[in-house]
Amino acid sequence: MDLTGQVALITGAGSGIGAATARRMAKAGAAVALVGRTRLSLQRVAEEVEASAGRALAIEADVSKASQIDLAVARTVERFGKLDTVVSNAGIQLHDHDLPIHELTEEIWDQTHATNLKGTFLTCRAGIRQLLKQGNGGSVIIVSSVTALVGVAPQNPAYTASKGGLISFGRALAVQYAAQGIRVNVVCPGALEATPDFELLPDPQARERRLIPQIPLGRLGRFEEIAPIITFLASSEASYQTGSVILVDGGLTAR
Ligand SMILES: NC(=O)c1ccc[n+]([C@@H]2O[C@H](COP(=O)([O-])OP(=O)(O)OC[C@H]3O[C@@H](n4cnc5c(N)ncnc54)[C@H](OP(=O)(O)O)[C@@H]3O)[C@@H](O)[C@H]2O)c1
Repeated sequence: MDLTGQVALITGAGSGIGAATARRMAKAGAAVALVGRTRLSLQRVAEEVEASAGRALAIEADVSKASQIDLAVARTVERFGKLDTVVSNAGIQLHDHDLPIHELTEEIWDQTHATNLKGTFLTCRAGIRQLLKQGNGGSVIIVSSVTALVGVAPQNPAYTASKGGLISFGRALAVQYAAQGIRVNVVCPGALEATPDFELLPDPQARERRLIPQIPLGRLGRFEEIAPIITFLASSEASYQTGSVILVDGGLTAR
């Protein structure tokens, strides 16, 4: 996979899948704009990329705020001259609200959707406006989840619904912008290694005990196992790939 000369903007790039994707895309030759709310973690990833002779720009922005993500795209173009790929990966899963819907508050529903669904809308809108202005097509990759495809309990139903919405949203964009050469694909990771939000659970290890026996490959996935799929979708080797929903789940849903 060769991304030499390309520019990618990745949201949620300070940790997890986003950070692994930034490192992988930079290794393939792309300049990477790293978007998130925490400057320190973004800077750490940017320094790692630059230490490996890559090009990176840390941009503090909240994807749920139109003005901030618009500015993030503008700063990316100002620094690197253009944009080729948008990875909408930022997401929240409020594990301390893994409650059935009859116990879920409106505030948690709204908070989850503000980042996961509205944040993706705003990220894609800002990125696609730039791609249309350039007129050379491009690639958009949306990170959903396996929970969009199968019922999982206990889990925050606002999260599940937001991830389901991303699949429909991605397909609609794929059809809408195919004529302009903009490919749009959705990646659904399965159960991955723990992120800090899992510490919100009363028993963080219970998740592993419950999930691992259900995964044919017998383990949780690693962030570095999602990053190459996203990098492939950004590359010209995926030139016939659009509107796809790609599962990377260790066989979890094959049962
Ligand atoms: N881990 C899994 O098992 C798994 C499975 C399926 C799907 N996913 C999805 O994969 C994506 C990445 O998650 P991850 O596992 O890598 O977890 P993570 O490390 O928690 O990554 C989420 C990232 O999103 C950023 N973020 C959250 N809200 C934001 C906002 N409003 N604006 C900008 N950035 C924001 C966070 O940074 P700041 O807090 O600093 O902003 C963080 O870097 C998410 O969409 C998640 O739903 C994860």
